Amino acid sequence: MRNMRKDFLWGGATAANQCEGGWKEGNRGMAIVDMIPWGENRFPVMRGEMDYKTLPEDSYYPGREAIDMYGHYKEDIALFAEMGFKCYRFSFSWSRIFPSGEEETPNEEGLKFYGDFIDELLKYGIEPVVTICHFDIPLALVEKYGSWKSRKVIDCYVKYCDAIFNRFKDKVTYWITFNEINMLLHLPFMGAGIQFAEGEDPRLVKYQAAHNELVASAMATRLGHQINPDFKFGCMLAAGNFYPYSCNPEDVWESLGRDRENYFFIDVQARGEYPAYAKKLFEREGITLETGPDDHKILKENTVDFISFSYYSSRCASTSEEVIAKSTSGNVMKSIRNPHLEVSEWGWQIDPLGLRITLNTLYDRYEKPLFIVENGLGAVDQVEEDGSISDDYRIQYLEAHIKEMMKAVDEDGVDLLGYTPWGCIDLVSASTGEMKKRYGFIYVDKDNQGKGTLKRSRKKSFEWYKNVIATNGRILK
Ligand code: BG6
Repeated sequence: MRNMRKDFLWGGATAANQCEGGWKEGNRGMAIVDMIPWGENRFPVMRGEMDYKTLPEDSYYPGREAIDMYGHYKEDIALFAEMGFKCYRFSFSWSRIFPSGEEETPNEEGLKFYGDFIDELLKYGIEPVVTICHFDIPLALVEKYGSWKSRKVIDCYVKYCDAIFNRFKDKVTYWITFNEINMLLHLPFMGAGIQFAEGEDPRLVKYQAAHNELVASAMATRLGHQINPDFKFGCMLAAGNFYPYSCNPEDVWESLGRDRENYFFIDVQARGEYPAYAKKLFEREGITLETGPDDHKILKENTVDFISFSYYSSRCASTSEEVIAKSTSGNVMKSIRNPHLEVSEWGWQIDPLGLRITLNTLYDRYEKPLFIVENGLGAVDQVEEDGSISDDYRIQYLEAHIKEMMKAVDEDGVDLLGYTPWGCIDLVSASTGEMKKRYGFIYVDKDNQGKGTLKRSRKKSFEWYKNVIATNGRILK
């Protein structure tokens, strides 16, 4: 990449809720992921429509052990280093640091675990990129306050941030306040621990929780910049533009509205105020938010330093009933099937040019450095008798996306900080809870039912990505 930053951050991304495990180790408290089951009850729980307390006793919770990175992190980081990672994006488990969310002082064992983890990364010269909250909240805060419905949780989050910022102020520079903050609208329990009580208006509840998270994010940014002015804070969007299904202006208008649902969060975090269209939406729908006297000032004065996002696919929008019937999935947000695109085994549309479009849209809109912190193909891998795994489909997917990313930098002038493909080591799928849906360069021997040795092995894509990094993206074959 001719215009690429010299310190471009090639790496990989994971999150504690899907890979760390060790749910009872080191005084960790229960978190929402510990109560998200595998199987038919998974989506009702993640949508906040089914109470996890009513789940059958023999339910299986794949996040509790996950791939046990808690016990394997040295081996895993050594493999990342072998690939030449410049950075590694991972998340802290909040309840490992504040088991109930409200202790007077943080849990030293939790802080020590992440301290050792970070030191292991730094030993190899790998820059840590920390997501403070990736679909994660102590279960005790859900039970006591209804999670982000309550402003009390803002204080708990800021206290958690205070503990980690002070502890890691000389070791971590990049912080992402909330993973895919817009996921709250689609899977409120998984995204933000939100369950709906009878009679509650789900739209009001979701936007109140969103407001509380946005204020918490701005307060964390303010605090972090006070503790270390070199800290860089990012928001994080589940991105992928909505295309109008046709050039009928009705479809164009519909796609603009669907995009705005998602941009809403980033508009606030990057520009510091509620956009006009959101104010009008609230007015129309009778949504009156409970706000603190300084909220708007805090939002205005503490915008993010960079915009990070996940990109898996683009989406389509239409107003035609007939067209809407042709929906497919894609990172939880359903989309109309685009006839020009192939889909993955899970129905996610594959659109490399869509990544360039997304990069350009976000850069035009916010004019802040961007960071692709998730991208990749969830696929079934076949382990051959000799133990090899030829994941050419994954190489093909990533190669096509990296090419478009480079064009956005070289030809369009987008300022891009880095690229961290998702699930660089196989982990539990957030949406389906499967292990079978694999993203990694590193295979982990574990199946959907939780059986397996947890042994790690290199896939074909491992060597390929190592070469991509070594040549700074010049050699993609
Ligand atoms: C994003 C999340 O939504 O997409 C990750 O930030 C998630 O947590 C990833 O794992 C891929 O989705 P899935 O459902 O295939 O795991």
